[in-house]
Amino acid sequence: MKPDLVVVGSGFFGLTIAERCAEELGLEVLVLERRSHLGGNAYSEKDPETGIEVHKYGAHLFHTSNEKVWEYVNRFTSFTDYKHRVFGKYQGQVYSLPMNLGLINQFFGRSHTPDEARALIKEQASEIATEDASNLEEKAISLIGRPLYEAFIKGYTAKQWQTDPTELSPDIITRLPVRYTFENRWFNDTHEGLPVDGYTAWLERMADHPRITVQLETDFFDVAEEFKGKVPIVYTGPVDEYFNNSEGRLSWRTVDLEESVVDVDDFQGTGVINYNDQDVPYTRIIEFKHFHPEREKTHLPGKTVIVHEYSRFAQEGDEPYYPINTAEDRAKLLKYRELAKAEPMVLFGGRLGTYKYLDMHMAIGSALSMFNNVLTPHFTEGAELT
Ligand code: FAD
Ligand code: NA
Repeated sequence: MKPDLVVVGSGFFGLTIAERCAEELGLEVLVLERRSHLGGNAYSEKDPETGIEVHKYGAHLFHTSNEKVWEYVNRFTSFTDYKHRVFGKYQGQVYSLPMNLGLINQFFGRSHTPDEARALIKEQASEIATEDASNLEEKAISLIGRPLYEAFIKGYTAKQWQTDPTELSPDIITRLPVRYTFENRWFNDTHEGLPVDGYTAWLERMADHPRITVQLETDFFDVAEEFKGKVPIVYTGPVDEYFNNSEGRLSWRTVDLEESVVDVDDFQGTGVINYNDQDVPYTRIIEFKHFHPEREKTHLPGKTVIVHEYSRFAQEGDEPYYPINTAEDRAKLLKYRELAKAEPMVLFGGRLGTYKYLDMHMAIGSALSMFNNVLTPHFTEGAELT
């Protein structure tokens, strides 16, 4: 059957579009996905040996302050009360992140009141004026001072970017928040938690609709001629790829994820530890069982799944994870946006289609906006698709 709408990509953006259009507008939606599973980068599966849920494209923590998004996602899953916390290792010590009063006291070896800590960091940051900073290192020192920069920013950033911070643009960081309290929750949002029965169950329920067909292992470019110009398309793949890289490739960072099962019940006592020392080659270790303490009885005792993360520039064929967004990228993106606007019957969305880092709640929120503001007027009133 000829679909009313083709969605390219089954990540949160594509599935939100598909679900809304099938449910609210009664459209027949065909979702094309080139991977062998749906869900995009939020996909997870249970490690068969230990029963531990592993996020296959990097750790995914759900959080949002958007009430519309929160109401929407709760139609498909409930959430645990998991609250994310991150720790950072540096020179044989473990500190509680983000930078807070606990970290400052531990790092400088004595207690500070909030005002004392504020005064200390202000004095250390006075070494460089922020407006004079000509690279990332100087900018960071101008914001938090040299000691905290050298311990908690320098090595981690160098590994993330495979570039010395003195050669990185100061624009990469705008702020380096320091909390003058002991609060160490990673996210500030109103709502936070993990899907009770996992990301894949949540994503599958979004797609589980009589008018939605998901076709896996199908690259849009192999079947594009069947649909282009004939049926509305929402495309969530890489925008440069759609136009054959005519304006040049947009640059991305990727992460190599090295997964292993180790013979210990608890490897690190928490979900995420950052490694700040520059001579440790990985940036983080994730231990997935800690994301779901409530599942303890379903996990095989004596074993745990950990993932070492290594960050690097993406080459052709690598998974694009984080947009690098150099001035050159931004110039190319402007040209791609013009091409995208002029492309008849195709809407571009999601993190790859817009070359933007989007958290899950942002991808869902932006898909809900496209549904309300563009697709609904088109399908109900014949408004143009732009
Ligand atoms: P994707 O999930 O990337 O989906 C796009 C889909 O399109 C993919 O399945 C792809 O295979 C498919 N596709 C592309 N081209 C084609 C084609 N030609 N034909 C067919 N199919 C195609 N968000 C949070 O809120 N919290 C987190 O903690 C968090 N952690 C993250 C960690 C990492 C390492 C990364 C990379 C992202 C993280 N995110 C997190 C962001 C989250 O992954 C995104 O918000 C979400 O993936 C966006 O969904 P999307 O649909 O836009 O893109
Ligand atoms: Na300063």
